[in-house]
Amino acid sequence: MSEYSTLKVNLGDRSYPIYIGQNLLDHADILKKHIPGNSALIVSNETVAPLYLKKVEALLTGIRHESVILPDGEQYKNLDVLNTIFDALLTHRLDRNTTIIALGGGVVGDMAGFAAASYQRGVHLVQIPTTLLSQVDSSVGGKTGVNHPLGKNMIGAFYQPRAVIADTSTLDTLDDRQLSAGLAEVIKYGLIKDADFFEWIDQNMDALLRRDHQALAYAIEVSCKIKANVVAADEKESGQRALLNLGHTFGHAIETGMGYGQWLHGEAVGVGMCMAAKMSALLGWLDENQVAKTIAIIQHAKLPTTAPHNISEEQFLDLMSVDKKVLDGVLRLVLLKNIGHAVISSDYSKDQLRKAIRLGYTN
Ligand code: NAD
Ligand code: GLY
Repeated sequence: MSEYSTLKVNLGDRSYPIYIGQNLLDHADILKKHIPGNSALIVSNETVAPLYLKKVEALLTGIRHESVILPDGEQYKNLDVLNTIFDALLTHRLDRNTTIIALGGGVVGDMAGFAAASYQRGVHLVQIPTTLLSQVDSSVGGKTGVNHPLGKNMIGAFYQPRAVIADTSTLDTLDDRQLSAGLAEVIKYGLIKDADFFEWIDQNMDALLRRDHQALAYAIEVSCKIKANVVAADEKESGQRALLNLGHTFGHAIETGMGYGQWLHGEAVGVGMCMAAKMSALLGWLDENQVAKTIAIIQHAKLPTTAPHNISEEQFLDLMSVDKKVLDGVLRLVLLKNIGHAVISSDYSKDQLRKAIRLGYTN
């Protein structure tokens, strides 16, 4: 078997492994040991299924398995499409001991995860993420859910998988734009928690962009380690887990404001992180050099760094006010005290937020 590494998300009796390595989908033992019953439903989409469904089905010898193929796109991450997963589960009479296998990017993972959380009040879940973004972020930590026209990821549940299997070979078929979107979340981990990792990403960006396998595997491993530690300390986001949302409040406003599917999540987060850095500078926490470094690394990852003019300042404020980090009417933002040190704060004025939004349109 090819080499792989295993990390653990420590959550007591709900702890689970994250496997990271090449060609993991060529070996049945990893997946099968995380399927407790004798049935499974593979949830995938119309892009990923033709590439990898047969491979996963081939791993399930001796296990009754069905599949449901969703339309591809963030615009389909909604309750109507979620219902087609329940239709499949019920049509195939899959019982409480079934395992839902999410095979795809973050959209499939979030929807399959929410279906697993709610079907018969909870069935087993295994995540097989196939985008860089889902391998470094969405498949780990148990956030599941769907969008509402008025707000992103507004309906969902915390529900941990039994295992995450990140086969880095699947990234070979990903298009360049999606790879860059995943790099936004990798950069995020450096910015919020690890200045050395930030420097490493900066120095290895070209290798990451040309999909050097070792560089990608290292980036995924460090990212998952940071996420696993944060999730283990604060599973339900009562505190530090919110730090993982650096750039997301600005970014969600862009995603929702532009219409789901227009901007990629990672692209919106990239711009959001630039806006968060500018806001942090307004508060006197970052200096101009650190803001410039933040913008430069995001640019280097071939991501946009300025907000779309189609979303006005007022729209930004309005869209940001439905963020899940609004508590008792106060919007808390993830901001930077330094590269490698994020904080969550509501210690800013409305004028400063307005100014940060205005600064977000240009560099
Ligand atoms: P995605 O799931 O839309 O996948 C991106 C595109 O790549 C899709 O067209 C998909 O079909 C295609 N694709 C997937 N794997 C492929 C492969 N191996 N080869 C070729 N094409 C492939 O997007 P994403 O960036 O993976 O995830 C974004 C979603 O994740 C958003 O909905 C976001 O809200 C969510 N998210 C969730 C969490 C969480 O903690 N649950 C964290 C971050 C993001
Ligand atoms: N992506 C943010 C989180 O998992 O909390």
